[in-house]
Amino acid sequence: MTTFESVTRPEPVAPIGLPARREAEGAHAPGFEYDVAVVGLGYVGLPTALAYHAAGSRVLALDVSPRRLDLIRSDRADLLEGDHERLRTALDHPDFELTSDPDRLRASAAVIVCVPTPIDEHLVPDLSLLRAACAAVLDRVTPGQTLMLTSTSYVGCTDDLLVVPLTERGFVVGTDVFVAFSAERIDPGNESFGHDEVPRVVGGSTPQCEEEASRLLLRYVTDVHRVRSLAAAEMTKLLENTFRAVNIALANEFADICTSMDLNVSDVITAASTKPYGFMPFYPGPGVGGHCIPCDPHYLLWQLRGSRVAAPMITQAMTEIAARPHRVVDRVQEVLSGSGRGLTGTRVLVMGIAYKPDVADLRESPALEILAGLRARGAEVAYLDDHFDLVALPDGSTLLGLTPTGAAAFDPELVVLHTRHEGTDLAWLDPGRIVLDTTYRGADLVNGVNL
Ligand SMILES: NC(=O)c1ccc[n+]([C@@H]2O[C@H](COP(=O)([O-])OP(=O)(O)OC[C@H]3O[C@@H](n4cnc5c(N)ncnc54)[C@H](O)[C@@H]3O)[C@@H](O)[C@H]2O)c1
Repeated sequence: MTTFESVTRPEPVAPIGLPARREAEGAHAPGFEYDVAVVGLGYVGLPTALAYHAAGSRVLALDVSPRRLDLIRSDRADLLEGDHERLRTALDHPDFELTSDPDRLRASAAVIVCVPTPIDEHLVPDLSLLRAACAAVLDRVTPGQTLMLTSTSYVGCTDDLLVVPLTERGFVVGTDVFVAFSAERIDPGNESFGHDEVPRVVGGSTPQCEEEASRLLLRYVTDVHRVRSLAAAEMTKLLENTFRAVNIALANEFADICTSMDLNVSDVITAASTKPYGFMPFYPGPGVGGHCIPCDPHYLLWQLRGSRVAAPMITQAMTEIAARPHRVVDRVQEVLSGSGRGLTGTRVLVMGIAYKPDVADLRESPALEILAGLRARGAEVAYLDDHFDLVALPDGSTLLGLTPTGAAAFDPELVVLHTRHEGTDLAWLDPGRIVLDTTYRGADLVNGVNL
């Protein structure tokens, strides 16, 4: 058995930006109409399906949402430009099928599941979508198939949702069907690291499962790192995102310390980053959004609660991260009171509400809590972000976005710079307006104050 080794595919696929479709190397999976089916076509699944197609595979792309399928068919999904090109190629190609029919899964040699794994309002993992997707796959499982979970989840999830039920149905995993876990590492909106170029960690239920899954991944990624078990692969993803969460919490704490000492934390981080080893920069901000960092460590904490294992550092980091948007609201109040004003009736504009620059993704965005928190304290709030016409706030209300002209007419007394998309125009923020810079990167702001 080969363990803990890196395997490199001999020939890299076309990187993002050069999305020509390769001819398939060698034969397609015999006896199957498709080489791979991707279940869940969101931020992860759609680029994955397109990467497989660009690498020469015959792809079945499945989603339960007719709205999502419509967006994809009409090329209106939020994708990097290279992936838009891949999508246009795929939509015109006979080897790419978009479907909502799970029965088609029987026709695919491999099935990759990438559906959401959120948490509920009590920070408990919500596995309902993953359970439903796995049940749909299991109901149609065909001998010879490789089944791979890529959704982030707790340690033991692939066993619970695939291996155990398959065994109960009489399948011998590792002989009749192959089961593996390999978490996605995609960073939507990030053009610096092509999806295909990021190495993948894979664990199988048996050595043969690991072998089949590595082969499946190496159809489009350049490197695969194999680990000893499904559990090790699941835990690797939890470590990656918990590492980010803890370090972001530390960066936030350092930012507050620097502010108290009248130091610029960005200068300090830049200076520390000159150390070529033993330091990796993390940046403070208004909180953390997206589907990963605010959620994934809770999968681990939830599991640890059950086994009475304490994880005080992770718990503290997640508490701090969750509290960060409230700190922004407090700071707005503090800054205003410094100039003799309160929040009641004050016009506050939040600029950029996506959870990170250059994506149209609002999931868990701190901006939503900040807007609701400011409004709850009496401020008149508005936002400017041309990615979103309308948003629903956590307090149940909705808010319409302003155009740049509308924002100027709103005449905010304070602006919260939350997300700085490429090309964000700050020129209209004349020196008479206070700008609370939650990005800590607004060195060019005339009247900026740090969070
Ligand atoms: N978004 C990221 O940056 C990112 C990065 C790495 C890993 N992940 C992980 O990848 C997984 C997927 O996340 P995402 O951001 O792509 O989610 P998403 O919300 O963007 O998309 C998920 C898609 O799955 C579809 N879906 C839900 N249930 C389904 C079912 N039973 N059958 C078929 N389709 C179904 C939904 O309609 C939706 O289109 C999560 O576990 C997440 O933690 C996400």
